[in-house]
Amino acid sequence: MGMRKNRKVPPSQPPPQGGRRTVSRRKFILGGGLAAIAAVAGQTLNSFAAERKKKKGSATDRKTAKAAEPLKTVEIRMTVNGVPKRMTVSAGKLLSEVLREDLHLTGVKIGCNAAECGSCTVLVNGRPVYSCRTLAALADGALVETIEGISGVSEGGNLHPIQKSFIEADALQCGYCTPGMICAAKALFIRNPRPDDDQIRAGLAGNICRCGAYDNILKAVRAAVGR
Ligand code: FES
Ligand code: FES
Repeated sequence: MGMRKNRKVPPSQPPPQGGRRTVSRRKFILGGGLAAIAAVAGQTLNSFAAERKKKKGSATDRKTAKAAEPLKTVEIRMTVNGVPKRMTVSAGKLLSEVLREDLHLTGVKIGCNAAECGSCTVLVNGRPVYSCRTLAALADGALVETIEGISGVSEGGNLHPIQKSFIEADALQCGYCTPGMICAAKALFIRNPRPDDDQIRAGLAGNICRCGAYDNILKAVRAAVGR
């Protein structure tokens, strides 16, 4: 599943300073040319060796390789927002793609599409996952909940208390991160119905708000405790 992760910002590289030139332009070009030739020669040798190895591969190797070929499609069953779904999808299809494209649950937002921002967060068996980095096949047999399922509005019901708290605390600006934030908050309440501020911050640590509405998001989730 698309697990959340801590990010490390790499130290920025200082731009070249206007000090003395230690390598002449001629030497630099010559050095670059030789490096390029060496790289091309290395690549050629590598591909030649790889080609030879491929030709020499035994029948067993070929059988094993064939057995390891990925399946093209898989059949999956999921209960999405309380509704059983059965579908055949490409084995490499992501949960976010199935939810948005096949089931039209566009409340699942794609921000970074790289397991960094959390806007695609949905609940799978009550746990928050990045749907942009979770293969749909891995959710086979699971209970999946998106923002559409958290709100009962489409079934004539009411907003979820967390949603009401977000509105009352003005916890959004553009709103793009909001579905993921609310899914993450709901998952937090499943694990811990009465989180304190530090636990709320930790529970939402995998979600980024590009508008920087963090103070009001914290207020909203705090107000939803015990609601
Ligand atoms: S879109 Fe999935 S983590 Fe950003
Ligand atoms: S409200 Fe705009 S990204 Fe959070």
